[in-house]
Amino acid sequence: MSLNVKQLAAEKAVEYVKDGMKVGLGTGSTAYWAIRKLGQRVQEGLNITAVATSRASEDQARELGIPLVSFGDIDSLDLTIDGADELDSELQLIKGGGGALLREKIVASNSGRMIVVADESKAVAVLGKFPLPVEVVPFAWEWTVAEIAKLGCKPELRRSGEELYKSDNGNYIADCRFEAIESAPELANALQNIPGVVEHGLFIGIADLAIVGKQDGSIEVIT
Ligand code: A5P
Repeated sequence: MSLNVKQLAAEKAVEYVKDGMKVGLGTGSTAYWAIRKLGQRVQEGLNITAVATSRASEDQARELGIPLVSFGDIDSLDLTIDGADELDSELQLIKGGGGALLREKIVASNSGRMIVVADESKAVAVLGKFPLPVEVVPFAWEWTVAEIAKLGCKPELRRSGEELYKSDNGNYIADCRFEAIESAPELANALQNIPGVVEHGLFIGIADLAIVGKQDGSIEVIT
């Protein structure tokens, strides 16, 4: 049976959570294991408050009895633990495979620390093989997506069955295949300048630490 490396990385990250912390809960199949472990620690007496980056993570946290607060009740977080679709050695990330990039970026940006949890397949030399998720408003999305394409990618609007996929915020996601992103900061800038783009999945200068689980049972910590 193969080792659950997502669980391995996620549970290691939860060791960084201490009593009294305000914690951001990520989204996805790796963050799932972190929330599960946090729930266990809360049941054992750990005292934390949390906010979630998606409805799915919020539901999971609620079921596990993790105390959730609303954003108006706190002004920042101590720590956010979240997954990534790709990460490089400079801790630049592609996120949004699960569609939660906007909420994830708001939460991570307002955290003292962001820890990324991932299996080794996510660690890459150059970002871009994974299609970069870009959240766009539904209004005139055709024009917005055409502008994105001029940056050198093939955007495809994400679907959910027959329908166009909608994020928790009611927007569309364009998955943009770049193959190799030479300068993530330049691309991020260019995307931000396109009207209609709400947010993109490049996280630059946000993550502080990545915990990468490996099939041989070891863990690599990237800082
Ligand atoms: C959710 O929108 C994403 O950013 C996830 O954090 C990312 O896709 C990693 O997900 P997995 O842990 O499921 O691969």
